[in-house]
Amino acid sequence: MTRIALVTGANQGLGFALVRGLAARLAPADVVLLTGRDSRRVAAAAARVAADPATRSRVEGRVLDVSDSAAVAALAGDLGAVDIVLSNAIAPLDPDRQAEQADVFLDVANGGTHAVLRSFGPVLRPGGRLVVVASSLGTLGHLPEALRPRFDNVSLDDVEKAVEDWRSAIHDGTAREQGWPEWINVPSKVAQVAAVRAVAAGRREADIADGTLVAAVCPGLVDTRASRPWFSDFSQAQTPDQAARAVLDLVFADLDPATYGELVRFGRVLPWT
Ligand SMILES: NC(=O)c1ccc[n+]([C@@H]2O[C@H](COP(=O)([O-])OP(=O)(O)OC[C@H]3O[C@@H](n4cnc5c(N)ncnc54)[C@H](OP(=O)(O)O)[C@@H]3O)[C@@H](O)[C@H]2O)c1
Repeated sequence: MTRIALVTGANQGLGFALVRGLAARLAPADVVLLTGRDSRRVAAAAARVAADPATRSRVEGRVLDVSDSAAVAALAGDLGAVDIVLSNAIAPLDPDRQAEQADVFLDVANGGTHAVLRSFGPVLRPGGRLVVVASSLGTLGHLPEALRPRFDNVSLDDVEKAVEDWRSAIHDGTAREQGWPEWINVPSKVAQVAAVRAVAAGRREADIADGTLVAAVCPGLVDTRASRPWFSDFSQAQTPDQAARAVLDLVFADLDPATYGELVRFGRVLPWT
C-alpha cells in the first residue's frame, strides 16, 4: 500500500529536513507531500529533495497556507487518507516586532495546528502518525498559575477560545497585566501542546489499540530562521537535518503508549505539569 506523508511549512528549516528524512526512509511507492505557503518556494524545495541521492520515495510539492483552515480541510478531503502528518509551520517573529506580527504568528502556529488536527485527525489511517512540532516551552509551567486552567484538561474549542482571548489581550494592551508571557512563542507553544492533548484525549483508546500516535514534539534548538533572532549562541544548536532525526525516529518507531498525547523531546516525555 502506498503511504502518504505530509509536512507543513516544509520549504525551509526543520520542515524541509523532515521531508528529506521521510523521503529517505519511506519506500519508492510512497509519497511525501512537501507543503508551504508560496508556490515557487514549494516547487524549488520539492525539486531539491527529489534530486537528492538519498531520496527513495516520491516527493510532491503542494501549496498549503495553514492559516487558511478551509484550504487545510480541502487538502485533507482530497487526499482522503494519510499515514504521517507533521504539523510544523511557523511564521517569522522578531523580538522588536511582536505586537505587529502577533496576528499572523497566532494564525499560523495555533490556527494552523487547530486546522491540521481537526482536518487530518479524521483521515489518519490506523497505525498513522499525527505529530505537532512544538517546543519544550510548551509545558504548563511556562504560564503563570492563573492562566493554566485555560489550557489544562480542556477541549480543542476551549484552547481555541483561550488563544483568541489572549489575542484580544495583545490587541488591547492588557496581555502583560493578565500574565501572558512577553515572548508570544511561549503561550503559543503551550496552546499547541494543549491542543494535541485535547485531541488525543478523545481518541486515545482506539489509537493505542491500532498503533496510531498523536503527539507533540520538541526538536531542541535548531539553527533556522525562526530561532536566529532569539538566541545569540548557536554553538550547541543542531542543524535541521540533525534535529529531524529524533523526530523521525519517533515517527517510525513502534508506538510506545507512554508517548501518546504527550510532548516528546529526543524520545523522552516532557511532563505537562
Ligand atoms: N528552530 C528552533 O530552534 C526550534 C525550537 C523548538 C521548536 N521549533 C519549532 O519547529 C518548527 C519549525 O521551525 P523552524 O525553526 O524550522 O522555522 P523556519 O525555518 O522559520 O521555517 C518555518 C516554515 O513555515 C513556513 N510557513 C510560514 N507561514 C506559513 C503558512 N501560513 N502556511 C504554511 N507554511 C508557513 C515557512 O514558509 P516561508 O519560507 O514561506 O516563510 C517555513 O517553511 C516550528 O513549529 C518551531 O516552533 C523550532
